[in-house]
Parts: sequence; C-alpha cells; structure tokens
Amino acid sequence: MTQTDLVIPRPDDMHLHLRDGDMLRAVTPASARDFGRAIIMPNLVPPVVTRGDVHAYRARILAALPDGADFQPLMTMYLTEQADADEIAAAHAAGEIVAVKLYPAGATTNSDSGVRNLDRVMPVLERMAEIGLPLCVHGEVTDAEIDIFDREAVFIEHVLAPLRRRLPELRVVMEHVTTADGIDYVRGSGGDIAATLTVQHLALNRNALFVGGIRPHNYCLPVLKRERHRLALRAAATSGDRRFFLGTDSAPHPRHAKEAACGCAGCFTAPVALGILAQIFEQEEALDDLPDFASGFGAAFYGLPPATARLRLRRSDRPVDLPARLSAAGVDVEIFDPGFDVHWWPEPAA
Ligand code: NCD
Ligand code: ZN
Repeated sequence: MTQTDLVIPRPDDMHLHLRDGDMLRAVTPASARDFGRAIIMPNLVPPVVTRGDVHAYRARILAALPDGADFQPLMTMYLTEQADADEIAAAHAAGEIVAVKLYPAGATTNSDSGVRNLDRVMPVLERMAEIGLPLCVHGEVTDAEIDIFDREAVFIEHVLAPLRRRLPELRVVMEHVTTADGIDYVRGSGGDIAATLTVQHLALNRNALFVGGIRPHNYCLPVLKRERHRLALRAAATSGDRRFFLGTDSAPHPRHAKEAACGCAGCFTAPVALGILAQIFEQEEALDDLPDFASGFGAAFYGLPPATARLRLRRSDRPVDLPARLSAAGVDVEIFDPGFDVHWWPEPAA
C-alpha cells in the first residue's frame, strides 16, 4: 500500500541564502514555514564579516519572519584574507555563529571578497580547528582553464585534501556536493567531515540546463552534473550515512537577473524543497531515511538539540500544483521546477 502520511521532526536547512532588503522579506516566510532552523549564508554585498555584521543581519532576518514563526537563523561569517581569528573565536564562544564560510574568490555569486590564497587564512583555520568551529566550503576551483564540470573534483584533489592533511582536526562541511568524486571523498576520508546535498542536484542532471533551449532557472553553482553523479548523490542521501544531510542552497535572484544575457547562478527551492525531497525519497524507496537526512544528521553534526516540533507531509494521488513564482515585497522570483510530478506536500501548521 502506498504511504500517504509522513511525520518527521521539523527539518533543518543547513545551507540557505536569505539575502537582504526586499528579497529577504519576500523569501524568509517560505523557509520559516517548513524549517525550524537554517544555516544562513553570509554572501551579502558587502559580506557578513564582523560580529557586528552578524548581529545586524540576524536582527533583519528576525524582523522578516512572520508573526509566530518557529524558525531560528543560525549565522555564519564570511572568511576573507583579512579575517581576525580572535573575533571569529569570540563570536563562536558567544554562540553568535555556527560556522565560517569559505568561498574561493570568484567561485560563485558574491564571492569577490573570498579567499585567493589559503596560506593567508591558515592562522584562522588553525584556531577554528582548536575550538571545533566548522568550516563550510564552497568546493570549486576558480581557474578559468579548468572545465566547469571538473571544478569540484579538482578542488578536492588540489585544495581540500591537502588542507585536511595539513590540518586534520578542522571540522569541514563540503557544501552542495555535486559529484561522485565528492561523495567518495567524504566516504573515504576519516576525520570530521560532512557534506550537504541540495534538492536541485538530487532532482536534475545537466541535461535540464538545455531542454529545448537554455533554462536559466536551473543554473546554479556548482553547476548540475551528469546523471551518474546525480545517482551517486541520491545513493548517499538515502544511505543512512550521517555525514550526508540536507542543505537546500535555496538561492533566490530576481527573475530579471536570471533571465538575462549573463544570468545569475542560484535555484530558489525553499517553497517546494520538502515536497520534492519526499518525492525523491519515495522514488528511491527510502522514505524511512528522510527524517535523518532532513532533520537529524545536520543538527547532530552541528551539535544542536534534536528538533522537538514535527512536520507532517501528506501524499495526494493527484500531483501537487507546485507554485511557480513568488511575488512579494516588490520582487518577482521564479520557484524551482523539478520537472517531475510531486505528490507530497507539507501540511500547513495548525
Ligand atoms: C549561490 C548564491 O546565489 O548566493 N548561488 C548558487 O548557484 N548556489 C551561491 C552559492 O552557494 O554558490
Ligand atoms: Zn549556496
């Protein structure tokens, strides 16, 4: 008999872009509807680098929450070559941040202030290893010579593996892992490493970028990969391995910035993430693994208490009419379309 009802601990989104200003006001309610906590990416312009920035950004997020929302933003700092180890350690000690984010300079949206030379941030990374503060990594090299589909694998070989040999105690999260190489690296290496997986990389392969024409709303970074990589991600997500957990990487951009001659990278998945994810786990005959993946393993890695609230997902015989756009606070954003029928949907809170 088909399962029609699934109750899971209220999920955590371990990688989320909420932006700022009107966009923040427009998109925050979607995440707060289904998620209890989210790790908030610091790639604003200018980036979130000081304790003051963290404090002010968190306050703006809280102000954008609907009344009565059950949602806790977990803040991060953006690692620059000027970062101050003492300030980061103080923010961690005060419970103001749960991680520091490494963007190789130029790797993705708003990464210009990122790191060019890892040697310059070694003192900060050493301190983070000492105090157990995780480093969230955008794992792509930025070298224009390297094929865009190989940038993750090359990053692992030339940057991440050497860094972790140099500093094995550093806790690392490979964000939005997209390749079998990334999965194998996490599986095969000892130490305190984990990886987040996104909805879009579990749902689509790179063909989805070019179905009958160019599809800017499926463009994100790291870019979608071949089918064999997508299958490796699905296997990892449904394997019950606690090192793999959900980080949606929901990354909204205004429609005009996506549908452009040089369109921005990022898929806006937050409003549909849980429904699509349940559909994927059903396709994989692994619905039993969804609670750990979406609500358990991430919190455990970050040392957060298990969620006490619950989210109920219901399955309908007819496919759900997925929302296609969000128009709010004066912004217009296209919502991610997985390209297959989705029968699962979170039940609205009573
Ligand atoms: C993200 C964004 O838009 O901020 N874009 C994306 O394609 N994922 C940045 C990132 O996580 O790489
Ligand atoms: Zn991201």
